[in-house]
Amino acid sequence: MKLWGGRFTGETDRLVYDFNASISFDRRLYRQDITGSMAHVTMLAKQGILTQEECDTILAGLEGILKDIDSGVLEIDGSAEDIHSFVESVLTERIGECGKKLHTGRSRNDQVALDMRLYTRDEVIETGNCIKDLLVTLQRLMRENTETFMPGFTHLQKAQPLTLAHHLGAYFEMFLRDYSRLSDLYERMNYCPLGAGALAGTTYPLDRAYVAKLLGFEGETRNSMDSVSDRDYLVEFLSALSLIMMHLSRFCEEIIIWNTDEYRFIELDDAYSTGSSIMPQKKNPDIAELIRGKTGRVYGDLMSLLTTLKGLPLAYNKDMQEDKEPAFDAIDTAKNSLVLFNGMLNAIRFNSERMESSAARGFTNATDAADYLVRKGMPFRDAHEVIGRLVVYCIGKGVALDDLSPKEFKNFSELFDTDIYDAIAVKNCVAKRNTAGAPGPGAMKRYLDSNDIILSKLN
Ligand code: ARG
Repeated sequence: MKLWGGRFTGETDRLVYDFNASISFDRRLYRQDITGSMAHVTMLAKQGILTQEECDTILAGLEGILKDIDSGVLEIDGSAEDIHSFVESVLTERIGECGKKLHTGRSRNDQVALDMRLYTRDEVIETGNCIKDLLVTLQRLMRENTETFMPGFTHLQKAQPLTLAHHLGAYFEMFLRDYSRLSDLYERMNYCPLGAGALAGTTYPLDRAYVAKLLGFEGETRNSMDSVSDRDYLVEFLSALSLIMMHLSRFCEEIIIWNTDEYRFIELDDAYSTGSSIMPQKKNPDIAELIRGKTGRVYGDLMSLLTTLKGLPLAYNKDMQEDKEPAFDAIDTAKNSLVLFNGMLNAIRFNSERMESSAARGFTNATDAADYLVRKGMPFRDAHEVIGRLVVYCIGKGVALDDLSPKEFKNFSELFDTDIYDAIAVKNCVAKRNTAGAPGPGAMKRYLDSNDIILSKLN
């Protein structure tokens, strides 16, 4: 059934019809479409625009359609132009003339604006739940690894020793920000556009606030033109998803590096790796690589949406139908990536011995050696110079600072004493770093305890 046949005398060209149609992808909005329609007719009856009997007939019809689509009895086929026409035509087939009253005081423009908002709202919550699961995993791993020492890197060069818990804490922070971004975009988007009509409201005495309340919105949107042409919330959501993917991708990159034979900091579970068709020894980190790869795809979805919206005049334009595929793709991709990543992370085995011995090599304690001299009275700049020369000396001998004899230390500065060994032991280097946010045990304990409170408050 065409919703707009009256104005036309000629047939739509087949190619034009197909090009115009959105049913192949907006079918996934069926639940939102039906739920929105139910709220709409309930309000129409309350306002006396439909009789209660008409409303009840339509509600029963819509409920039946929803049930039948859910159970698979009713298939959303390609015969309709979009999900809105599909639901309306099945309704009229099933309940007769009364079905034609459903669209009173409504346009597909405000209808689709509502459907997309309802859909997005649920997805924002689901994505938030996936992030919450990941935060819980990270918190568990941090609690288990406050004594797992590892090198911290800058420029991918060993820098200073820290702990695995502290390293994971950096990701906890990223995903926590992601969660809060979702929460605040949710608040901004949670207003109901239905009742905006095509663009200029309607002449029927609609109660928009009532529909908004029925559908769990904070209230109704404030300008009917903006209501039908606003897709900011989708841009915000796709931006948030892009950041989530960026964080996952950075984490994946580290996992890929840590999983190499050169590092061997971790071992991926067999369930999250794949083999090679030619090289029998291979166990590849495909899932981590794929998540890293899919990040580009989500960025692409965001760019596609922004580009579609750029320069669109008010109000609704058919270009906006192009919001759906990138939005669905980005949402599916990011959610799948979060779930798979969490599974992979839960199953990783951390090789703490390897990490600790790596932290003990590569002069990660050089800063602490300089700080030692400072404590003995040397200005930091001079201490930096002395330790720099010591490092060159060690590299020549192929040893670590810790391997030097007291005499060798003294050759570089009289201030060195036998307490230097304690001062530069990896564990002690970490133990001394207790400024807020640092990896030392005191700071880490305060951090983890506050995470427990944060996690218990995430709603
Ligand atoms: N399929 C359309 C979309 O997704 C629904 C709105 C159609 N409105 C219109 N005036 N043609 O945007």
